[in-house]
Amino acid sequence: MRLDREHLDQRDKYFKTNLINAITGFKSANLVGTVSPSGQTNLAVISSVVHVGAMPPLNAMVIRPHSTPRHSLENLIATGFYTLNHIHRDMVASAHQTSARYPREQSEFAATGLDEYWLEGFAAPFVGQSRIRLGMRYREHQTLAINGTVLVIGEVVLVDVPDDCVADTGHLDLERAGTVAVNGLDGYHTTRQLARMAYAKPGQDAVRQ
Ligand SMILES: Cc1cc2nc3c(=O)[nH]c(=O)nc-3n(C[C@H](O)[C@H](O)[C@H](O)COP(=O)(O)O)c2cc1C
Repeated sequence: MRLDREHLDQRDKYFKTNLINAITGFKSANLVGTVSPSGQTNLAVISSVVHVGAMPPLNAMVIRPHSTPRHSLENLIATGFYTLNHIHRDMVASAHQTSARYPREQSEFAATGLDEYWLEGFAAPFVGQSRIRLGMRYREHQTLAINGTVLVIGEVVLVDVPDDCVADTGHLDLERAGTVAVNGLDGYHTTRQLARMAYAKPGQDAVRQ
């Protein structure tokens, strides 16, 4: 199938959204944990986390337009902190359920059976069932002029990873951690690493390490 914009625009909304949501490929599957200033916890599945820089360690996520209430966005700006929790293959159904529009006063933790996990001194809830967790400090956000989506940039201030999932080199073993990938808004995938390549240099074959 080959579609130009005109033909794409002629397809029904369901087809278009499914295709465009999925066409950028596999994404990381995370749960964003936040708490409001009054203590109400919130959890939401998110697939748009991207690396922004390693020194300082920054990542970003794209949040839908703030034209309706966005609990995670509002909480993380108000408190300055949030958590990113990898979705483990055993928690896909509960993790997916966090995308439902629960009212502000209902915590997705309680609604989905995922456990709040608090680390002393960190002001946002982690997910008990996740094996890889990041504590994030909110740094800035930009509302993108093109469509009103909000780019949130955060700094990694805490890394919580099982010892047997991180090598002496710092490489992460995501398969051992049971982390899944997501495609579009409904596809969850397990993965299998094919290779780990050497740093590429012009004129040299990138040999496997
Ligand atoms: C697989 C999947 C990925 C999602 N990724 C994002 C995302 O990257 N950004 C976003 O704003 N919403 C995303 N959503 C939708 C949110 O999970 C949903 O809007 C949620 O209700 C937001 O909750 P909140 O208002 O409590 O923050 C995704 C939903 C699913 C099912």
